[in-house]
Amino acid sequence: MVYITRRERFSSTHRLYRADWDDEKNMKIFGPCSNKNGHGHNFELFVTVKGEVNPDSGFVMNLKDLSPIIKNKVINKLDHKNLNLDVDFMKNKIPSSENLVLEIWKQLEIPVKELGIQLHCVKVYETENNFVEYFGE
Ligand code: NI
Repeated sequence: MVYITRRERFSSTHRLYRADWDDEKNMKIFGPCSNKNGHGHNFELFVTVKGEVNPDSGFVMNLKDLSPIIKNKVINKLDHKNLNLDVDFMKNKIPSSENLVLEIWKQLEIPVKELGIQLHCVKVYETENNFVEYFGE
């Protein structure tokens, strides 16, 4: 089994908060990510798929086929958007990186399967030092 990864980038704004908590509690739990008027990140998304190497092509798959799926299903919906308001698959979710990887996985799982390979990992870097991974379990 060989694992291959495509990186994509998106820039979004978000605010981590719960409407049923007051500002003080939101600040205490979410810190500066709860800034009332939001804040932005330059996110990086790493999508890893796995499969056997095709002896004819030497590829698991052509990454050129994976990129448009990630762009259509995920990046175009997130890039230059407000994650609290604009993104169908983030509706009613706290727009944390944890929830992002869960929801991005759901967007990609079936289209990737249709390419004849398996999704292995969705990883989101919110900052250089903080990243979140999901392996589907
Ligand atoms: Ni943030």
